[in-house]
Amino acid sequence: MISYQTKVWHVDNVVEEQKYYPQLDEASALLRAGEAIAFPTETVYGLGANALSSAAVKRIFEAKGRPSDNPLIVHIADQQAVHQLVRSIPEKAQRLMDAFWPGPLTLIFPKKEGIAAEVTAGLDSVGIRMPDHPLALALIRATGLPLAAPSANRSGRPSPTTAAHVEEDLQGKIAGIVDGGATGVGVESTVLDVTLDPPMILRPGGVTKEALERVVGKVAVDPAVTMQADEQPRAPGMKYQHYAPQAEMWTVDAPSVEAQTALIRERIGQARRSLGDESQEGSHRELKIGVLATTETQAEYAGIADYVAVCGSRHDLASVARGLYDALRSFDQQQVEFILAESFPTTGVGAAIMNRLNKAAGNQVIRA
Ligand code: TXA
Ligand code: MG
Repeated sequence: MISYQTKVWHVDNVVEEQKYYPQLDEASALLRAGEAIAFPTETVYGLGANALSSAAVKRIFEAKGRPSDNPLIVHIADQQAVHQLVRSIPEKAQRLMDAFWPGPLTLIFPKKEGIAAEVTAGLDSVGIRMPDHPLALALIRATGLPLAAPSANRSGRPSPTTAAHVEEDLQGKIAGIVDGGATGVGVESTVLDVTLDPPMILRPGGVTKEALERVVGKVAVDPAVTMQADEQPRAPGMKYQHYAPQAEMWTVDAPSVEAQTALIRERIGQARRSLGDESQEGSHRELKIGVLATTETQAEYAGIADYVAVCGSRHDLASVARGLYDALRSFDQQQVEFILAESFPTTGVGAAIMNRLNKAAGNQVIRA
C-alpha cells in the first residue's frame, strides 16, 4: 500500500452561496489524477474518488480497509448528473430528489454502465446523493466528476464528523483532507431503495421516515434495520460491525429516562462487584467504565462512572445525532473498557441514532 504525506487544506468562512474556493484547486487536481481525498458533507466526512475509474475507487477500499462487497455512494452536484448514471428514474424518486436534494438522502437506482464495478460491488443498482454542503458541491463541480465516497473512517470505526477524526484514521493512507470544520447532521444519509414500491429504507439517516412519507406516502423499512440480527440486510454495509469503540458496549433500555439512569448506575455497581470477586486473592484490577449520557443526565453518573461522554440534549435529538460519533470516539481516547449507553426514542432522527448505537454495541441490550 502507498504511503502518503497527507495534505490538509483548511477552508474557513464556508458560506452557503456558490463561491470559488482556491483551497480546492489542488484537491480537485488530485481527484482528477485518481487519488482519494476526504471532504466534508452535511452528514459526515466522505472519502471521495472518481466514480468512473476502477483504479481510483480501489484506493478508497485500500485506505479504509473496507470489504469489497460493500458498495459506495456516488455524490453529484446537480440533478442532471443522475441521467448519466441510472437506467431509469421512478416517479417517486423524482419527487424525492425535488424535495430533499441537496440533502442527506441516498437513492438506490438501477445502474447504467460506466460506473466502476468496484463502486457498486457487482450489484445492478447504484446509490446516489447530492450532499448539502458548499465545499462538497464545489469540489464535485471543480472535478467535473461523480465522486464515489463512503464515510472517511477506517472500516468499523465511528464515522468522522471533523477533519481531526479523519486524520486519526487515515493519516498517511490518503493524498489529502479538505478541512471545512465540523459537519452538521452528524449521522449518515438515509439510504432509500426506490427500485421497490413502496420505497424501502435500507439505512435510517438524516432524512426521517416521517419526512419521506409526507412526500411519497407509505415507506417500508428493511426489517434488518431494527436490529433483530438474523435478517440479511439489503444494504450490504449494514451487516458489518460498525461505528464501534474498542470497549465492550451495551445500550440500556427502560421505560423512562429516570429508570434508565437508575439501571445504568446499578449495572456499574454490579460490574465493579463482580470484578472485585474475581480478584479476591490477587491485586484489585480497575475496570474503566464509561457512560454515554446527555446534558440532562450526566450528573447522575458523577463519582460512579470513570468517564461520561455527553452526546447532546434529550430535548433536541438533532444535537444528539451531531455529537454521537465524537462521543463514541472519545471512549477510545479515554481508554474506556466497558460502555453503557443511554437509549433514545426512535421517532424522527432517533431512528438513525438508535440504529447506530445498536450497531456500535453489536446489538447487546440491557433491558429493565
Ligand atoms: O451520509 C452519507 O451517506 C456518507 C457521506 C460521506 O455521504 N456516506 C456514507 O457512505 O455513509 P458509506 O459507504 O459509509 O455507507 C453507504 C451505505 C452502506 O451501508 C452500503 O452498503 C449502502 O449504503 N449502499 C450503497 N450502495 C448500495 C446499493 N446499490 N444497494 C444497497 N445498499 C447500498
Ligand atoms: Mg460508513
